[in-house]
Amino acid sequence: MDRIRIRGGNTLNGTIPISGAKNATLPLMIASLLTDDTLTLENVPHLADVEQLIRILGNHGVDYAVSGKRLRHDPGSGRTIHFTARTIVDTTAPYELVSKMRASFWVIGPLLARMHKARVSLPGGCAIGTRPVDLFIDGLRALGATIDIDNGYVVAEAKGGLVGNRYVFPKVSVGATHVMMMAASLAKGETVIENAAREPEIVDLARCLNAMGARISGAGTPTLTIEGVEALSGARHRVLPDRIETGTYAMAVAMTGGDVTLEGTSVDLLQSALSALTTAGAAIEATPTGVRVMRNGGGIHPVDVITDPYPGFPTDLQAQFMALMTRSDGVAHITETIFENRFMHVQELARLGAKISLSGQVATIEGVTRLTGAPVMATDLRASVSLVIAGLVAEGDTMVSRVYHLDRGFERLEEKLGACGAEIERISS
Ligand code: EPZ
Repeated sequence: MDRIRIRGGNTLNGTIPISGAKNATLPLMIASLLTDDTLTLENVPHLADVEQLIRILGNHGVDYAVSGKRLRHDPGSGRTIHFTARTIVDTTAPYELVSKMRASFWVIGPLLARMHKARVSLPGGCAIGTRPVDLFIDGLRALGATIDIDNGYVVAEAKGGLVGNRYVFPKVSVGATHVMMMAASLAKGETVIENAAREPEIVDLARCLNAMGARISGAGTPTLTIEGVEALSGARHRVLPDRIETGTYAMAVAMTGGDVTLEGTSVDLLQSALSALTTAGAAIEATPTGVRVMRNGGGIHPVDVITDPYPGFPTDLQAQFMALMTRSDGVAHITETIFENRFMHVQELARLGAKISLSGQVATIEGVTRLTGAPVMATDLRASVSLVIAGLVAEGDTMVSRVYHLDRGFERLEEKLGACGAEIERISS
């Protein structure tokens, strides 16, 4: 298994290209199940999760083709991939596949909408918490589906097709909002969804579905209105930039000091995280093509944050921000409200010399003046990258193992940081 070795101490200076968003790419790929026509996605990141979902969709009959190499092809630029679900050959998503990636459960929406039936394995727990699927089941029932749980599978049927309705989410869920949007797009009549997630990835999926012929309004607000249509067509859609990758590198620069421009992204995607970074002592500037992040000289100041659905502080940047706070000149509190077990990085950061105590949902981080390198490992994607951020300032070598977590969501991480001056290398074994 690959490991990443970092020798801490260098500032970061230069330019980092930001990839297409993983968490937009996955639902966009799943949307290809809604039509027998070709959905072309541009700016698709090279990530293990994307490859895994290609395999999962293939099981339902989705063919894919990657556009060939072009003149002046930049290996770092996102790929263009064409997805075609001409015929759905299987409406079952088996446990072996769904258990590898939770988001693959979301195929239940398009399968039910197009084929009027789906049998999808329950995804099970994961490292960051229990993550139930009750909101998906309630929402799809509101659209007229009958749903039973049978031998670990959610068995859903909508004889005669789904029917539009009003549904109020009791809790905000990104995945369940994606699924309801996809399902309601092919339902009969109008669906109104209240308390919908407002993440930029929701807006991106709505834009793509509308380009396919759906009639969705209100994306980005808590109320979505979806006028069902008979059929959807193909479309061409460019995946929006990854705001979590943007925030992660912004935090890395705030940690090491230096001056880095994050290319191909936008400050508008992550206002709350960037404002926390500014309070912590970084200078952030919107440029015509990206975001410039600087910290020269001044220290890192403690900032309290509470994770919340968008536009709040993202849970997917909580671990990275905690890494930054380990070097603040005071005491910071981080409250995690989305997932009950998303503090797995705490004990690993402690191995590097961080002083963090946990009480329920709240982590108290007492800043220290130095971190020291050590072997570390993490159990999820964002936790792993928080260890890389800490390693960038730790004295000596930090060896991060279980790099496959990083590869799920960060494209060419070591190359991007290395190009800005970090001493970082992948050790393949
Ligand atoms: C999405 O997961 C993201 N995944 C996660 O990113 C992200 O952390 C999360 O949204 C929150 O922003 C993708 O987009 C692929 P939720 P999702 O449903 O949709 C509870 C990463 O690192 N809930 O918004 O699964 C749930 O347990 C990943 O890239 C129910 O109770 O998250 C959680 O407490 C990890 N019942 C809360 O809602 C349900 O039926 C929010 O989860 C569904 C969810």
